[in-house]
Amino acid sequence: MQKTLVLIKPQAVKTGLTGQIIRRYEEKGLNLIALKMVNPTRQQLEKHYEEHEGKIFYNSLLETMLSGPVVALMLEGKESVTVVRSLNGATDPIQAAPGSIRGDYGLEIEHNVVHGADSIESAKREISIWFPEYEA
Ligand code: CMP
Repeated sequence: MQKTLVLIKPQAVKTGLTGQIIRRYEEKGLNLIALKMVNPTRQQLEKHYEEHEGKIFYNSLLETMLSGPVVALMLEGKESVTVVRSLNGATDPIQAAPGSIRGDYGLEIEHNVVHGADSIESAKREISIWFPEYEA
């Protein structure tokens, strides 16, 4: 069964959206197989977002993600990477369809409530960053 990784971002955690967001994934039929609240380190975030290093939004992305705890989820199910990306919606909440998680909560791209792994390889890499104790 395919596994994927989601981070619920600090602003969403602060505003009490964690339960509603988790429910979306569970209602779709994905299994929540691990969950933790983490105060991320800069080093973890640099590793997680290494593909974005040097981009114009990179520094503010890191500061935003350092502004409070995130909730990391490991989800499992058929085609879970694709299913999570579809439930999340487009990166920019303005473009994200109503009914998608990003489409329903917020307006700002840097506070787009969730991050989801974008491929099976990314999911494996990101699971090792946020759940290092987990043996694939
Ligand atoms: P996420 O899925 O966490 O992956 C990278 C994040 O960078 C993205 O969601 C957005 O929150 C943030 N970001 C900020 N500005 C941009 C941008 N112009 N394009 C893409 N991502 C951006």
